[in-house]
Amino acid sequence: MTTAPYAPFLWGAGTSAHQVEGNNVRNDWWAWEQAKGGRQKSGLACDHYRRYREDFALARALGHTAHRLSVEWSRVEPQRDRFDEATLVHYRDVLEELRRQKLISFVTLHHFTNPLWFSKRGGWERSDAAELFARYVNVVAQRLGDLVDFWVTINEPMVYTVEAYWQRRWPPQKRSAIAALRVLCHLAAAHRRAYRIIHRFYPSAQVGVAKQFIAYLPADDRRLGDLLAVAVYDWWFNRLFFVLTGRTHDYIGVNYYFSSTKRARLFPPALQTIPWEGAVSDLQWPIRPEGLTHVLLKLKPMRLPIYITENGVADAADSRRADFIRAHLRAVEQAQASGVDVRGYLHWSLLDNFEWDLGFGSRFGLVAVDYNTFERTPRPSAYVYKAVIEQARRGT
Ligand code: BGC
Repeated sequence: MTTAPYAPFLWGAGTSAHQVEGNNVRNDWWAWEQAKGGRQKSGLACDHYRRYREDFALARALGHTAHRLSVEWSRVEPQRDRFDEATLVHYRDVLEELRRQKLISFVTLHHFTNPLWFSKRGGWERSDAAELFARYVNVVAQRLGDLVDFWVTINEPMVYTVEAYWQRRWPPQKRSAIAALRVLCHLAAAHRRAYRIIHRFYPSAQVGVAKQFIAYLPADDRRLGDLLAVAVYDWWFNRLFFVLTGRTHDYIGVNYYFSSTKRARLFPPALQTIPWEGAVSDLQWPIRPEGLTHVLLKLKPMRLPIYITENGVADAADSRRADFIRAHLRAVEQAQASGVDVRGYLHWSLLDNFEWDLGFGSRFGLVAVDYNTFERTPRPSAYVYKAVIEQARRGT
């Protein structure tokens, strides 16, 4: 891994509050789960709210130098304009523990969940949504900001919008193009406001988003229809959020999972996603590391530092994860060799966790979690990743 001139390259893994903490009883996902939305209830999840010390110690023992987590808005502000002191003390403790463990922090402010009071009044569809989010950000910046190294304002705004307001997979399970566009614009406004607020407190803060990028590839790069389809998808899914948020990014957080090959005919109009015939994850997601190089090269003109904020694989047997990591790191190296400024890699995820509407079945963790005993067991791939990190840090 190329570390100079941006040394030290950051190595680690990520989690998000609702997926690991447990008992996030005041958000919209929890309410949806109780109403039988999704396959399982998150319940105690990984009980990370109580076991974070043990989890960070494990990350440290596995060679990590950085860690990504999220602050749960519904805990910080359980009722509108009522900020919970005990929660703020808890998150200070969490971030101090990261410092003690010498782990650089990436702190996400919104990772798919909303306080129930916020979603009940219309959530991100409401025109004052960004203003309400800004009040929360203001408190977090003031109370926790001294302990944050990297800020991730919004996780995967596009995924959230599409799943919740078009695909109907996530609460509030709507299908409305107008609602989706409103939500996207309000998330963009929320990011811009958060960017300004955080910089007011900390002028040299590093603020960005964790954006999922899909590598869209043409079935045939000599066919106009395929190229057009890819350009449209790329603009809509990968670019639009950056158009809406302009220059309010100090770095780009890249979440990369897969690529998608498109074929389109103009006459008669037809659009097709070509099925992937190579390796897949337990969720049948295509494993295509070269797509990561593709995504990174396309980001080069933005001239911003890049951190891989998520990249991982559902692999309960742990038979593909080690190769997955190595192959994706090679993909990063290739992009670096072409001058792309990648400065860190955070694997998804440190722990097996609550995979949203899919429940606990898919296992993304470097560390396996027994949901009965909450025992943590690093998988063999976690040690492969550790060896990769050690080798890179030695510069060999
Ligand atoms: C999300 C994570 C999720 C992961 C795997 C990303 O879209 O940010 O919360 O667990 O993908 O599906």
